[in-house]
Formats: sequence, structure tokens, C-alpha cells
Amino acid sequence: MGKTIAILTGGGDCPGLNAVIRGVVRSAILKRGWKVLGIEDGFDGLVEGPRARELDLQAVRGILPRGGTIIGTSNRGNPFAFPVKEGGQVKLADVSELVLKNFRDLGAEALIAVGGDGTLKISRQLGDLGLPVVGVPKTIDNDLRSTDVTFGYNTAVGVVTEALDRLHTTAESHQRVMVVEVMGRDAGWIALESGIAGSADVILIPEIPFCIDRVCQAITERRKRGSKFSIVVVAEGAFAAGGDKVRQLSASENLGVERLGGVAQHVAADIGKCLEMETRVVVLGHVQRGGTPSPFDRILGSRFGVKAVELIEAQRFGHMVALRGRSVISVPIEQAVGSLNLVDPQGELVSTAEDLGIMLGR
Ligand code: F6P
Repeated sequence: MGKTIAILTGGGDCPGLNAVIRGVVRSAILKRGWKVLGIEDGFDGLVEGPRARELDLQAVRGILPRGGTIIGTSNRGNPFAFPVKEGGQVKLADVSELVLKNFRDLGAEALIAVGGDGTLKISRQLGDLGLPVVGVPKTIDNDLRSTDVTFGYNTAVGVVTEALDRLHTTAESHQRVMVVEVMGRDAGWIALESGIAGSADVILIPEIPFCIDRVCQAITERRKRGSKFSIVVVAEGAFAAGGDKVRQLSASENLGVERLGGVAQHVAADIGKCLEMETRVVVLGHVQRGGTPSPFDRILGSRFGVKAVELIEAQRFGHMVALRGRSVISVPIEQAVGSLNLVDPQGELVSTAEDLGIMLGR
């Protein structure tokens, strides 16, 4: 009898998740004759139920170009702080023992957890409690350490770049300042790389607190040089020097997860005050996470899925697959989750942007 393994996808959905699932299922079944169970809705499926279904070859047919995840996900269900209703109130409880029990009841020998910082931290903690787990790094934010890049990021940068190309036509025709807010949480990768690719004039990222006067000055100088419009890309986590991030919901209001958003409105209002120019705000939001993955993410997701199965075969639990140069390797999960992979304000990417004449708000 072959092994039975399980896979779950946790955190926000991300282009390439289905490529990972397909890579796991195909290499487990075709190469090894194993059985794969898909746990539904992230760790929620291990708290409740357990809720899982077998993923055979038919289940993964045609899913490579599909966005989202065929097994569902959740960015709320941390088993160490799980929301439970008690006397009409929602409290956070540690249900990790229940998760371990439910996992054992599934009869699977190992778990592949595909997720970002939150999911991988939970996986490491469950690993410490004895769960044989292997991680796969996912996030459009690209903020995980120990891998050159996470899958999903390339697609998000592509979506934003296309949006910037399209917004140029309106900005130019109407002589407007278009302020485009992009995702990324505390990391400015999406803003910086798509801003360079999409020929932004100003890019504001969390790693470089901005000065609005400098931004207005840059737009004025552009106008003097004959460019009557500007494109400003602002990462959702960017903030003015001496100020704070703009939040829609604090962590305590949102089950432990801070929800960022709204900074573009402030930036646009401030630009409107200091320059007599029409401004418009575009918040790209979840469009950046949706839809079909780029070829790069389909390939990376497939490689990660295949490698994760190899790690289970080699019993390298507590490890995560990672891209290093041109190779897919494995690293201890704890190395990836200690701190975030942020843009280096003194790094080559930032200086390239500045040498191209892009204003980074400092
Ligand atoms: O981590 C991915 C991400 O899309 C962030 O860029 C963003 O801040 C957050 O998730 C949004 O989460 P939600 O889907 O809960 O709105």
C-alpha cells in the first residue's frame, strides 16, 4: 500500500495555488502510487470535521490555468487562536490538539501546507507538536525570506503593470494625476517592480516613509519638462514620514489580522491641495490576486508541488521548498518565518528606480 498524504492551502488565495496542488497530486500518484487528500478551506478543514476529499488525477484535470484554489482557503483559521462563539461573543481559543487529532483521523502520513507567513508559522508550531509537515511558500506580496521569490508574485506584478499601462492613457488624455494603490502589506515589492515595469513617475513603499512635499515637487518638475500628467503607485502599507500606516481595520477588530487600505485617498487629497491638478484614485485590490497565473507562476508552482512530495519521501519534515537561483531547494520553515523579506531602501532595485528618475518620496 502506498502512502496517503494531505495538502491544504492557507491564507489569501493566490495565482499558482492550483499548479502546486496539481504538481503534488500528479507526482504523488503517477510517480509513487500514493493517495492525496485535499483538506478544505485551510486549517478550518482540520478544526471542523475533518473536512477533506480525495484528489485523484481527474480532480486536478484542467486546473493549471485556473486562479484561486480548488480546495478553498481561509485567512482567519489560526488553530492557536481560533475564533469560537461563546455566549454570543467571539473568543480566540487554542484548538491545536483538535487539529492534530483530526489529522490523525484522516489516516494521512504527512501534510503539505501551502501558504504565506501566517500559514507557515502555524505549520511550524504544529510541526513542533509532532505534525509531519512540509511547507510551500505562497504570496503575491513576496515578503517571505529564504526563497528568491514566492509563487503568485509574478502574476500580481503583471496585473499591476497592465493596469498602469491602461491608466497612462486616461492620465495623459485628461492631464491628471492617477494615484494607484496596490497590495503588498508591509512590503513594497509589488509597487516597486510594477512601478518600474509600468513606467510610474512616483512609487511610494512602506520601506521608505515619504514626504508629500517632495512628491508634489517631482510632479511639478515633470510638468515643467512638458509632461502634464503623472502616475503615482502607492503600496497599501506606505506611510508619510512621522505618520502611520492607513488601516481599514486594526488587528484586534479583525481576528488578529490587520487590514490595510486607504492610503491612496490621502496621497491624492494631499497632492490635490498642493498642486492645481485633477487627481483620481484607483485601488486595484483583489484583482491583483485573481485570475489565471502567469507562465512563470505555473512553472514555479508545479516545481514547488513536485519538490514538496520529494521532501515527504525523504522525510524532511519541518522544511519548506524554496527557489534559490535556478534551483528548487529545501530550507527549514523557521528560517522563512522569523522576519519579513522587505525591499532594501539602499538596494540596487531602489537605486535603479531613482536613477531612472522615479521619485520614491524621499
Ligand atoms: O497577503 C496577501 C494580501 O493580498 C495582501 O497584499 C493584502 O493586504 C491582504 O492579503 C488582503 O487580505 P484580504 O483578502 O483578507 O482582504
